[in-house]
Amino acid sequence: MQKFIWKEEYSVGVASIDEQHKNFFRITNDLIDFVERPDAKHEDCIAIARELEHYAAYHLTTEEKYFHELAYPHAEEHIREHDYYRDKVQGLLSRLQDDQSVMKSTAEELANFSISWLSNHILLSDKKYSVFFERHGVH
Ligand SMILES: [Fe+2]
Ligand SMILES: [Fe+2]
Repeated sequence: MQKFIWKEEYSVGVASIDEQHKNFFRITNDLIDFVERPDAKHEDCIAIARELEHYAAYHLTTEEKYFHELAYPHAEEHIREHDYYRDKVQGLLSRLQDDQSVMKSTAEELANFSISWLSNHILLSDKKYSVFFERHGVH
């Protein structure tokens, strides 16, 4: 499976947010490493998937807090995209917990979905708040 490699084009110009995006991708890459291990255990898979879910929740909430504090004008549609990610990941996590026989394929789906959603979301949506955040002193 293809891992995600950070490139400068993914920078939103806010160092703390770039760091969070890099961590988000790093955990996704850990999940890919895990899936490729022949001795992968179900409980370890759930632990990494939960770590991804928690970190994603932390990151998405960080952005949303700034949106509210700074009255970002495009908050509503942006948060709708975050909700789409959260819902999809919840569904995959439940499947992962309930059915051990589909562990690898579900973990792969979770990793692939996270990489494609996050990379597109950064380029198409997160980048739109760059100037606005900078102007309001978010570093
Ligand atoms: Fe983001
Ligand atoms: Fe976002």
